[in-house]
Amino acid sequence: MRVGLLTGGGDCPGLNAVIRAVVTVGRRRYGHEHVGLLRGWRGLIEADSRPLTPDDVAGIAVRGGTILGSSRTNPFTLRDGGERAAQAARDLGLDAIVAIGGEDTLGVANRLHEEHAVPTVGVPKTIDNDLSATDYTFGFWTAVQIATDAIDRVKTTAESHDRILAVEVMGRHAGWLALQAGIAGNADAILIPEVAASLDQVEGYVRSRAARGRRFSVIVASEGVELASAGDATEGRDLDEFGHARLAKVGVAQRLAEALQERTGIEARPVVLGHVQRGGTPVAFDRVLATRYGVRAAELVGEGGFGRMTALRGDAIVDVPLADAVAELKLVPRELYEAAETFFG
Ligand code: F6P
Repeated sequence: MRVGLLTGGGDCPGLNAVIRAVVTVGRRRYGHEHVGLLRGWRGLIEADSRPLTPDDVAGIAVRGGTILGSSRTNPFTLRDGGERAAQAARDLGLDAIVAIGGEDTLGVANRLHEEHAVPTVGVPKTIDNDLSATDYTFGFWTAVQIATDAIDRVKTTAESHDRILAVEVMGRHAGWLALQAGIAGNADAILIPEVAASLDQVEGYVRSRAARGRRFSVIVASEGVELASAGDATEGRDLDEFGHARLAKVGVAQRLAEALQERTGIEARPVVLGHVQRGGTPVAFDRVLATRYGVRAAELVGEGGFGRMTALRGDAIVDVPLADAVAELKLVPRELYEAAETFFG
């Protein structure tokens, strides 16, 4: 079999570990041949590809980014895009496509399989951890560690200067990253898109700390948070090919810092972690998870398990219908947030 691989959407640490596992296991166990489609679905549409052998992928599992490049190209925005993509797969002689991506990339894989009979297998990635049908996406815990390290550092300087530091982390719709990094870094408040928060509440946390002699506070906020009376993070932004607002030109950290300084008289500064959270080498957990996902994806191709996605359930790697994974976003449950909330202020 000739197997195409692609990485789509925002990159994240662990993509290369999946590629290495799919190619190595596919070749050694099943005799598959592999073709890397460059820059996501764009590589398929434009037939921009390169051969991949186990030698080509040796040693890449520890490296961040993706050797295949990535983009947010959505074939379904093109005229007859689904059929063009299916024809491109036939022209390249592909018997299967392994798509490594988040909700958008896997949504395309699902539609190509369901509507155009393209044999696809999905692997769930995103630092946002907002894909349904899996406990964790790879890349998430690396981003949590990076954000936690940043919060630790921000805290010591906030304390030295009696400042409020508002730390903005990625997460447009789901607050997994802010929540876990905020808990790990002992943030004084955590704001996530799933739970409406008001500036009055945040001001209350800062004031109650100040009243106890702690004139510094570290507030962690997801970039997609809407703050009552401080505007909406998506206001006036342009959209990507999947219709998502591009955020963080004037992000929530800046708006929080300005508003809190004005309300409390305590000096406040924004810290935007941005793409630092997606870069660099994966932590060990993500390397292992990505490798296990890649092994299962190669097996699914070998078994003809198309229209399916690898997933983590507890300690087990399983596979689930792609349609289940992309049906709705996985959001932070209220009780998890409430457990963290007890520590605020
Ligand atoms: O979906 C992953 C993600 O990292 C989001 O958390 C973030 O909002 C977005 O990608 C940023 O995308 P870009 O790199 O295109 O600015």
